[in-house]
Amino acid sequence: MDAFTQMYRHSIEEPDAFWAKQALCVDWQVPFTRVRNIDIGPDIVSIKWFADGTLNACHNCVDRHVDARGDQVAILWEGDEPGLAERITYRELHGAVCRLANGLRSLGIGKGDRVAIYLPMIPEAAISMLACARLGAVHSVVFGGFSAEALAGRIRDCGARVVVTANEGVRGGRTIPLKHNMDKALESCPFVEKCIVVGRTASQVDWVEGRDIRYLDLVDTMNAECEPEWMNAEDPLFILYTSGSTGKPKGVLHTTGGYLVACALSHRHVFDYRDGDIFWCTADVGWVTGHSYIVYGPLANGATTVMFEGIPTWPTPSRFWEICDRHGVTIFYTAPTAIRALMREGDEHVMRIDRSSLRILGSVGEPINPEAWRWYFEVVGEGRCPVIDTWWQTETGTIMIAPVPGVTPLKPGSAALPFFGVEPVLVDDAGRVLEGVAEGLLCLRDAGPGIMRTIHGDPARFIETYFRRFPGLYFTGDGCRRDEDGFYWITGRIDDVINVSGHRLGTAEIEGALVAHQAVAEAAVVGYPDAVKGQGIHAFVTLKAGEGETEALRQELRDFVRRQIGAIAQPDVIQWATALPKTRSGKIMRRILRKLAEGKVEELGDVSTLVDPGVVAALADVARARK
Ligand code: WTA
Repeated sequence: MDAFTQMYRHSIEEPDAFWAKQALCVDWQVPFTRVRNIDIGPDIVSIKWFADGTLNACHNCVDRHVDARGDQVAILWEGDEPGLAERITYRELHGAVCRLANGLRSLGIGKGDRVAIYLPMIPEAAISMLACARLGAVHSVVFGGFSAEALAGRIRDCGARVVVTANEGVRGGRTIPLKHNMDKALESCPFVEKCIVVGRTASQVDWVEGRDIRYLDLVDTMNAECEPEWMNAEDPLFILYTSGSTGKPKGVLHTTGGYLVACALSHRHVFDYRDGDIFWCTADVGWVTGHSYIVYGPLANGATTVMFEGIPTWPTPSRFWEICDRHGVTIFYTAPTAIRALMREGDEHVMRIDRSSLRILGSVGEPINPEAWRWYFEVVGEGRCPVIDTWWQTETGTIMIAPVPGVTPLKPGSAALPFFGVEPVLVDDAGRVLEGVAEGLLCLRDAGPGIMRTIHGDPARFIETYFRRFPGLYFTGDGCRRDEDGFYWITGRIDDVINVSGHRLGTAEIEGALVAHQAVAEAAVVGYPDAVKGQGIHAFVTLKAGEGETEALRQELRDFVRRQIGAIAQPDVIQWATALPKTRSGKIMRRILRKLAEGKVEELGDVSTLVDPGVVAALADVARARK
């Protein structure tokens, strides 16, 4: 612990010296001479790391391992169908990535061009990301669970010239019509020149001659060598969309050098990664967790990274453990929602499978409740594997707060201590910094080299969202408590972002989808606690005059939201409201709606500032009846 504390102090007190040394964990083509250059002012935020160095992320994740470990498995893929597996060595990965990079180049893709990737969890997803990185093209991966409409919005915002998809995805024994969704999305994206289609299944799909290209046809004739484009450390690596409390999703932009260093360093230390480990992060590559801990972190460290196409409960709730057993997984990283879902299925599904290969258990995406933590630790890990609760965000790029295995004492439910280079600060509503034991809003004074650099196409929103409220600090949107040992306990979002099964959703986005329906006059969406999903979605909907409050309409609205955003955004509860509780200035009182959704009718508090307190009484009657 002393050594760790010392190293942490060094990272905060002498960041230049610390990071100059740590950044050598990646290969630089032209070494940097400056470490950091950060300017956080009221009107300008400029974050630069290693700015005059050049490197290539793909070279670091693939090429540099070929000599030393060319025959080691880089990507260990397990298909949806149990037993279906594919092992891709570093040498093979190099060939596959180069061929696709050459293919993309033949389509005119180069430095700075955007490529949207809408793929299932198949090796081609990682290969596509790496091929883009090799060319200096900026990838934007869109989660395969998003609808055509959501996909189109992201393709438009990032201005992709080429997209990559699959004819279908396969998950939990069912197929997902990815190409069909892409076709619909591209109807409103005429600027997209080419659509590369991976054949995941044998199904035939509609084909647009001249635009659509089979993946195999593209890479077949390509050379297996492709010179990487040497990128400036601050050149963009990817854009990834995430929900905020207002407006449309934000294109979080990460750059090359700092992000890669942060990925490699955190993957090594937070998971105590060692040569020979089999590392499995169960996230989807469509989320930041998949970017940093399926692809960039593990591959930068020359690890074997497991990629799983399916779901934890299919064909049985033993699936995760069977995969651990079959492939000898040593480090396992998943989300509390999966842990809670499996916990509910009963211990026998875990106990009947050998888990002796496991060494470290990680958690990410939402607060892990102590009950789930203990089950993970005692039942899954047989009390031998530390549970590493990692707090971070799409914006921070990599893990910010987490215990270090074998070093930090563990407290169930706490993400423990800041990682190297991370300086958390708790503030109150007025922006006063809170010292010692305290609860407040979580900000970061320093977040290390992996933090986002801007919002693609909207630098003003970047400053407004993260840096305006508390000058000089990055505001995370999370509430947090610090205990007497200096341990951090994340209490959840304090803005209008909800976390459903570890998926981040803006309530404004769901409201926007609801009011787009012709029958809806107004809608307000809040989260409520759910035992498995973390939070459920409760929508209060006011219909236009003359529309009937029917069950059929309820179902139609659910489908409508699914078509516009995706199944993850479908409201669990739709409650009809003749009106919404508003203040005299017209603001919806969400605090009251949250209490109603939680069924805490007795705790509504002061409603005297409402225009019409009767509105609340009517909604409360329904809430009472539901209880
Ligand atoms: C929440 C996922 C508590 C938090 C990496 C954060 C967590 C948001 C934890 C980011 C954790 C993530 N404990 N809460 N260990 N990890 N969160 O961008 O509210 O999808 O702000 O990134 O998830 O979600 P995102």
